[in-house]
Amino acid sequence: MRILSGIQPSGAPHLGNYFGMMLPSVELQSKGECYYFIADYHALTSLEDPSQLSSRSIEVATDFLACGLDPEKTVLFRQSAVPEVHELAWYLSTITPMGLLERCHSYKDKVERGISPNHGLFAYPVLMAADILLYESDIVPVGKDQKQHLEVARDLAQKFNQAYGETFKIPEPAIRGEAATLPGIDGQKMSKSYGNTIGLFAPENEFKKRVMAIKTDSTAVADPKPVQDSVILALARCVATADQVSDMEASMLRGGVGYGDYKKQLFGMLWESFGPLRARRSELAKNPDFVLNVLHRGAREARATSDKVLAKARRAVGIV
Ligand code: ADP
Ligand code: TRP
Repeated sequence: MRILSGIQPSGAPHLGNYFGMMLPSVELQSKGECYYFIADYHALTSLEDPSQLSSRSIEVATDFLACGLDPEKTVLFRQSAVPEVHELAWYLSTITPMGLLERCHSYKDKVERGISPNHGLFAYPVLMAADILLYESDIVPVGKDQKQHLEVARDLAQKFNQAYGETFKIPEPAIRGEAATLPGIDGQKMSKSYGNTIGLFAPENEFKKRVMAIKTDSTAVADPKPVQDSVILALARCVATADQVSDMEASMLRGGVGYGDYKKQLFGMLWESFGPLRARRSELAKNPDFVLNVLHRGAREARATSDKVLAKARRAVGIV
């Protein structure tokens, strides 16, 4: 079974990225052959700083390795190491109905937030479909916000197969229930573009400041606190035991403890649980050549698969 996912190097990974995509990707390493990549072409739709694009790509690769990617088991590469992905994206775009892309929430949301509606942003899901189909992916671990993009990829694979004969596998998304959409410190989806993140590898004072900045209501210390939609509980559920979470929930319902105390408890839980990852991260940072070698090796292995699939797609459309 082939498992594939990508992460944009558009900023430092946050807890939403970790629980929604990086941790499930790491866990899936024992279930099949994993291909994970740094989606630098996709990041160009939001990042226009050439020096940052390359340095952040290496940093995100380092972060991903620190989270537990095993380069002996997993193929880790930069999307741009296989530029032929654009050739496949073109074949797919010739069978992509405009309406399918016009319906994509992610595009509509970005335009609503003031990002200029350029063609790259519009065609983003077609390139993403090419990423997935080029490496014969069966399973794609992503957060819930990417579900619609996965549906586009499935749709395009089916359309292509109908038009040109069986060529592509139909991929399935793997979306993790609990952290499908982790809230940020303002209660909205945690996202780099909303400025509401808690950085996975942020320094201690900054990490703590972000946890303490979680938006809460004005319930008095003595009063019972609402537990539904509680960001503190949502984040605690990701790292604490079931008993710890139910104790916190019961204490909130009883009242008598202020939000500040819960935030301190939450900080303690999060900071402790990421300790081993931080230690690995600082070891890896001392050895950037190791990360570069992993990416080079990954690119070679990714290409071995992509060459084969692309040859099949070319034959199918009649480019021989
Ligand atoms: P962002 O929205 O911060 O720019 P990306 O688009 O780079 O994040 O997402 C990388 C991966 O992390 C995707 O699989 C995405 O679904 C997942 N992800 C991002 N934010 C969250 C979140 N708040 N909860 C769960 N998963 C998330
Ligand atoms: N669009 C994804 C995101 O923003 C990144 C991505 C690009 C991706 N290509 C992919 C994810 C292929 C899974 C499969 O997070």
